[in-house]
Amino acid sequence: MRILVLGSGAREHAIIVALRSEDEPHAIFAAPGNAGIAADAHLVDLDPTDPEAVTAFAHDEAIDLVVIGPEAPLIAGVGDALRTRGIPVFGPGRAAAQLEGSKAFAKRVMDAAGVPTGRAIRARDSAAVAAALDELGAPYVVKADGLAAGKGVVVTDDRAAAIGHAEAFLPSGPVLVEEFLDGPEVSLFFLSDGDTVRALSPAQDYKRLGDGDLGPNTGGMGAYSPLPWLSERFGGEDEFVDLVTREVAEPVIRQLDAEGTPFIGLLYAGLILTDAGVRVIEFNARFGDPETQVVLPRLIDPLSQLLLATASGTLESHSKPAFAEAVAVTVVLASQGYPDAPVTGRALHGTDAAADVDGVHLAHGATARTDDGLIATGGRVLSVVALGSTFAEARGIAYEAIELIDLEGGQYRTDIAARVVED
Ligand code: AMP
Ligand code: GLY
Repeated sequence: MRILVLGSGAREHAIIVALRSEDEPHAIFAAPGNAGIAADAHLVDLDPTDPEAVTAFAHDEAIDLVVIGPEAPLIAGVGDALRTRGIPVFGPGRAAAQLEGSKAFAKRVMDAAGVPTGRAIRARDSAAVAAALDELGAPYVVKADGLAAGKGVVVTDDRAAAIGHAEAFLPSGPVLVEEFLDGPEVSLFFLSDGDTVRALSPAQDYKRLGDGDLGPNTGGMGAYSPLPWLSERFGGEDEFVDLVTREVAEPVIRQLDAEGTPFIGLLYAGLILTDAGVRVIEFNARFGDPETQVVLPRLIDPLSQLLLATASGTLESHSKPAFAEAVAVTVVLASQGYPDAPVTGRALHGTDAAADVDGVHLAHGATARTDDGLIATGGRVLSVVALGSTFAEARGIAYEAIELIDLEGGQYRTDIAARVVED
């Protein structure tokens, strides 16, 4: 197949590594990609959010499948433009992508579909925010409505800080004040061709910057898959996945279809498992980063076939995707100053030695090659991905590898997957 992957993060690198691991050889193009992706795909100098440019390239290069990695091209309508031209594309159109692009839209769809989520109050000014905070009580959860790259949400016991956060976003529109949900978080991905839904294996993301879940929210500092502790509560991963498919994914996909905006691509359900049951905290309209780095290496079925079936409305002919028993752990290396003000342009050494650790590979997130070698070009620089037969093993080699990498001021968490390692 000739496949174009849009995006330049570690998630896109992980998608490309999975495509490359198939028996069938593919011609893979990435726009714009990064220095790590360059080793696994042909880089194309193309603005991934420009519907005309992407469509023209896909047409001229006889691309069989376009895979949209990040949310920006979805919101820009790249999926719509490709579908209009009859080019198979994995990624929803602009309207269905509002599930991620607007928290208010997502809440409305969940209400209409009867999907369990936290209570939320929309507030247009500071007085309404204060009233909503008092009604729902501490801890306070305040969310900006639109895309905010992980920075739109604050969870705090400090009422003044909650109001301050709301006031930063109010000039650009209403904010949501949400009921605090208590419990472990799970990221569960679903393929949807607009009608049929197929779940992947669950993962857990580490959203906060620091060990022990301290510090600011980030895009995600690490992840592991599968989640052995689901068994205690649900009897097994399959039981959990079936429950969420039935109660969350299928109703949402049916609702969007009924509204004339079918969702074709990846439905990411961000869940909190409260004592009262599973609740949705957010939807994304794309693969999660860094969860993809731990889910896809465990996928047994050829990814290209699943993505193409999703893009072309034939997912029903595929049974539930199968996953290896091997476990996966990923640790993200971030630049100094991430997430507020990442320092970029610094030299990155030791990546070859890290990738040589048995059972480890790297997914590059923000790297470029200069005459002097690799440099970091953004906040989340790369993901170290480790596979093992136990979490202790995978975690051990992930940290062995990341310690071989040298980036001045680089930051990473040291507790990724620690909770699933038995002492
Ligand atoms: P979101 O951007 O909606 O995924 O929120 C980012 C993070 O904030 C989530 O991963 C949770 O850790 C936390 N969060 C969001 N909403 C809630 C909530 N209602 N209750 C508790 N934590 C939340
Ligand atoms: N890791 C969270 C996300 O991709 O949104």
